Amino acid sequence: GAPVKYNISKIEPGAMVTVEWRGKPVFIVRRTQAALDSLKAVEAQGVLLDPESKEAQQPAYAQNEARAINKEFAILLGICTHLGCAPMFRPDVGAADLGGDKWQGGFFCPCHGSKYDLAGRVYSGVPAPLNLEVPPHRYESDSVVVIG
Ligand code: FES
Repeated sequence: GAPVKYNISKIEPGAMVTVEWRGKPVFIVRRTQAALDSLKAVEAQGVLLDPESKEAQQPAYAQNEARAINKEFAILLGICTHLGCAPMFRPDVGAADLGGDKWQGGFFCPCHGSKYDLAGRVYSGVPAPLNLEVPPHRYESDSVVVIG
């Protein structure tokens, strides 16, 4: 499969787009400052299974808290690490049906209820065993990312 280019400057702050790479969905989220703050909040709650992404699949350059080269943009495979369903983008902090105050926004898998934060880090106590995968990617310019 060929690499895929995407102009991330088109994404509104707080929004997500899905691009296809090698037949797989790749989520690109433009994170707001509140979203970046939520990564620290969810860590402080101690509810993540692998907050430092030690077990997760990602390039070395994305093994950091934001799991990103450019913190503003999360680039994640849109495939649940449990049985491969498509997680839904649920950035709404505090959504009661996703655990009330403990929910800091992220991704929710409708198949068996796995929850991930806005860096694709999985919550403890759900079926998914791993954080969402970060695909290989690089920035061709400030506005163009190349996935693959
Ligand atoms: Fe996502 Fe089972 S496939 S929770």
